[in-house]
Amino acid sequence: MERLSNKVAIVTGASAGIGRATAKLFAAEGAKLVVGARREGELDELVAEIKADGGDAVALAGDVRSEDYAQALVALAVETYGRLDIAFNNAGTLGEAGPSTGVSEKGWNDAIAINLTGSFLGAKHQIAEMVKHGGGSVIFTSTFVGYSFAFPGVAAYAASKAGLIGLTQALAAEFGPQGVRVNAILPGAVDTAMYRDMNNTPESQSFITNLHALKRVATPEELARSVLYLASDDSAFVTGTASLVDGGASITRT
Ligand SMILES: NC(=O)c1ccc[n+]([C@@H]2O[C@H](COP(=O)([O-])OP(=O)(O)OC[C@H]3O[C@@H](n4cnc5c(N)ncnc54)[C@H](OP(=O)(O)O)[C@@H]3O)[C@@H](O)[C@H]2O)c1
Repeated sequence: MERLSNKVAIVTGASAGIGRATAKLFAAEGAKLVVGARREGELDELVAEIKADGGDAVALAGDVRSEDYAQALVALAVETYGRLDIAFNNAGTLGEAGPSTGVSEKGWNDAIAINLTGSFLGAKHQIAEMVKHGGGSVIFTSTFVGYSFAFPGVAAYAASKAGLIGLTQALAAEFGPQGVRVNAILPGAVDTAMYRDMNNTPESQSFITNLHALKRVATPEELARSVLYLASDDSAFVTGTASLVDGGASITRT
């Protein structure tokens, strides 16, 4: 049986990587999709693929830093499909990396604006809609970096993503009584453009791979399956969690 039949879902950061894989899996599990990111062409391609596979999806391009965009994604879900049940706030950026004493104020603010404020603005409008129909599931993409592991040069990224864990707990406590579950997923390294941009030498890839007990990085599709769990009723009693999907990176010292 399809695990998301009759559910309506928003996925941000759907033009690539984890978001794209999750949108496709949600659609295959019966959800009707609203997909977002800045690159319109990639979104149109994704919608065409989902429709070719017999699914249902619409796209709206925009920047998650804009509250108008957050509102417009929810409005599109309601206009097109009549409701909203699931929101995967996954759009994110590494931001300005490098020695922290050299990080610009703009670089810092951009990471916070996209990774943290953008996720909050999304959830604000998504939850307001979900409570009208008895609840829903909100998922944020955080990371193992800044939670169970850290390395030099990623202060803005780590801080913005760790902020999502506090946001997850606060929203879960506030809206649990109205049936809204809120969880954060904390991936280890996942083979996407973000990972490849950061690790573009064999040495760096080998270093990152070795951090994981499984001695490999994840595929976007593997992450999507864990997001599906948090989105579906299989996780009906799961809320407020920081859910590591990190191939054992948090317990590996070898
Ligand atoms: N890959 C990893 O190892 C890893 C590990 C832990 C956590 N994560 C997190 O996983 C999430 C997805 O990343 P990914 O690995 O799949 O990388 P990716 O392939 O680079 O995807 C990033 C997505 O975010 C979107 N995005 C970025 N800035 C945006 C903005 N201002 N407004 C709207 N959309 C924006 C991008 O779309 P456009 O460029 O079209 O806007 C793209 O769809 C991110 O939050 C990332 O921090 C990744």
